[in-house]
Amino acid sequence: MPPVTAIYPGSFDPVTNGHLDLIERGTKIFDRLIVGVLRNLEKEPLFTLDERVEMLREVTRKWPNVEVDIFDGLLVDYARRRKARVILRGIRAISDYEYELQMALMNRKIEPQIETVFMMPAETYSYLSSRLVREIARLGGPIQGLVPAVVEQRLRTKVL
Ligand code: PNS
Repeated sequence: MPPVTAIYPGSFDPVTNGHLDLIERGTKIFDRLIVGVLRNLEKEPLFTLDERVEMLREVTRKWPNVEVDIFDGLLVDYARRRKARVILRGIRAISDYEYELQMALMNRKIEPQIETVFMMPAETYSYLSSRLVREIARLGGPIQGLVPAVVEQRLRTKVL
């Protein structure tokens, strides 16, 4: 069987310990994992694209089969360009399922050769999201244990 490349796409604003948990799981079952950060011109992110990529590269450096990249346009076009056969997505709770199922089926409709694989992060992270992390940080709440140390430091300076 040829090596399998998977794309793990998202906004990663910022990367959380839940994302990292999923990346680590992904490194164990795929030969290559590309973390694809979406260049989304419609959203006003807290961290710039470069900042998000920089933090992701720093926290994934320990895994030699992980690459961090930027993409725009359709995810399946990007996956095809990168010769990825799999899109990896995390499902934390049943509430994620409906949106994820819709995306997975739409992606399959556009490109039937690419499979979406869902993985569950550790249950400790089942309530964790970048949106809540941003909100807690903005309001001065505790974010230790939710994000890697480098992200925690950057969040603190960002929201000061
Ligand atoms: O971190 P997010 O916001 O949950 O990630 C969503 C993402 C990047 C996976 C999704 O918005 C996406 O794939 N965008 C690229 C455009 C695209 O392909 N849209 C059609 C999806 S069916």
